[in-house]
Amino acid sequence: KSKGGKADGMINSVSSGAKDSGTGLTVLSEKKLFLGQKLTVIQGDIVSVTADAIVHPTNATFYMGGEVGQSLEKTGGKEFQQEVQDLLKNQGQLDTAGAALCPGHNFPAKFVVHVNSPAWGQQNAQQLLEKAIKNILTLADEKHIKTIAIPSISSGNGGFPKQTAAQIILKAINNYFVTVMSSSLKQIYFVLYDMESIGVYTSELAKLDS
Ligand code: APR
Repeated sequence: KSKGGKADGMINSVSSGAKDSGTGLTVLSEKKLFLGQKLTVIQGDIVSVTADAIVHPTNATFYMGGEVGQSLEKTGGKEFQQEVQDLLKNQGQLDTAGAALCPGHNFPAKFVVHVNSPAWGQQNAQQLLEKAIKNILTLADEKHIKTIAIPSISSGNGGFPKQTAAQIILKAINNYFVTVMSSSLKQIYFVLYDMESIGVYTSELAKLDS
């Protein structure tokens, strides 16, 4: 199953072209985190991913004008757009790095976790991205979510350099499972779209401490 596995043993499998059994998407790399969660880097459109939840990087008012947001808005259609409007009405605006959840429609994921993603150049942008990941995973645990797919938050419309975003996001995911006592999460997907991110995430994953 695993070809081209790294000698340091931290990556459980690095398979070029192998398909993830859950999503059917191409696996770039995979490793186990502190509490036994699987962190899998896959390549493709997050909207097509089968998971309990997928993450939408947005602003305070759940605007779907980011790169992932555009895909979600188009595929989710009227039903999903209505969910987003209801969420804003019931929940109010999101703080920067804040996260909120609503049901999905017309795509495989049951829920969408919206996160107010920090923009490059904003004060404390890097700490806020770290906090955004913590808030996403905390909310997922509160909702007893088992599988979640996360895009390269802040590195599209948000303007973060792809590598900086990758380093912060991976570190924050790793840290989360080191600090919580238990978690409902079993599988975390990184869903990458552009070639630059794909290269960056694969090499950064290999550097993470188990
Ligand atoms: N699936 C997965 N990843 C994707 C997809 C897709 N279909 N399309 C684009 N991406 C990648 C981009 O290449 C980028 O690396 O997702 C990453 C995040 O891009 P954005 O969705 O633009 O998110 P972000 O950079 O956080 O910007 C969000 O846009 O909604 C506005 O102003 C609002 O602050 C918010 C910003």
